[in-house]
Amino acid sequence: MRTASLPGECLTRTKSRHPTVTVRKASVEDLDAILDIGLAALPHDPQWHYRFPYRHEFPEDTRDFTRARYKEFLEDGEKQWCVMVAESADAQHPRGAKPVAFAIWEIVNIRKHFGFCTPSKTSTNTSTPRTAPSVKRRRDGHAQRMQAWNKTTSWSKQRIFDDIYGTGHFHLQILATHPSYRKRGAATALCNVGLAAATRLNMVVSVFASPMGRRLYRQLGFCYVNEVRIQVEGEDQFVILTAMLYVPDVPAFPRYDFWSPNSAMTT
Ligand SMILES: CC(C)(COP(=O)(O)OP(=O)(O)OC[C@H]1O[C@@H](n2cnc3c(N)ncnc32)[C@H](O)[C@@H]1OP(=O)(O)O)[C@@H](O)C(=O)NCCC(=O)NCCS
Repeated sequence: MRTASLPGECLTRTKSRHPTVTVRKASVEDLDAILDIGLAALPHDPQWHYRFPYRHEFPEDTRDFTRARYKEFLEDGEKQWCVMVAESADAQHPRGAKPVAFAIWEIVNIRKHFGFCTPSKTSTNTSTPRTAPSVKRRRDGHAQRMQAWNKTTSWSKQRIFDDIYGTGHFHLQILATHPSYRKRGAATALCNVGLAAATRLNMVVSVFASPMGRRLYRQLGFCYVNEVRIQVEGEDQFVILTAMLYVPDVPAFPRYDFWSPNSAMTT
């Protein structure tokens, strides 16, 4: 089956429930704004400190590597990734609106599902840019934990989502709202773009939720699927991610029981 539009066009500009927040597709010009939002927001997610415990000693590495990775997302040309920003009306800003939140969607499955490309192995690694910046090895990160993160999230994504839904799901990779603009519906507006696309395309949305994200996703109609524990052997510290799915009300999909940690899958 083919659609007339390219995958990124499925995620279109929209108005949020909050009148001063609008969502649009991001461009490379948004890189610095997105970077500032990410660096302010993501330390509130426990996995950030877990992976990058030395970020206070080496803030320039955190900035350089995060910037390089976000640049890759933005320059991808919507082959694999689609970046959306939420803007808040701001008379002081030259454009009358200021980026306050962003979402990065992995949309390669939309391409595959609708025949825009042949399936190929895709990377889920968000911590190590392919194009390394000036510093070869990041000093802010804990190498073993970063490795455990990449290995476990990649394996879990395959087992929990890909093996069941194949190319019928697309993935919310990163969601972040600047701390000064939280609880105004920015993240909700960003998610709603993806959820509307999922409903339109009869696809499922998958996410590994942080503790802060979990509550929001649940309110939006995501269901609990599983918990993923990331831990280096011999260490006490670990992080838990919650695998969640948004399944549009389309009978063709297998469904998980709603928000039950012991959910059995039913068809
Ligand atoms: C999780 C996160 C993205 C949410 O961003 P946000 O823009 O504040 O989210 P929203 O405003 O859409 O919703 C958050 C809450 O505000 C409420 N809200 C939304 N619009 C509102 C409004 N106009 N007035 C009052 N409350 C509102 C929502 O109902 C929600 O309620 P809850 O606290 O009971 O869950 C943000 O906290 C964040 O960046 N956290 C750190 C990074 C992270 O964990 N990301 C998720 C990765 S999976």
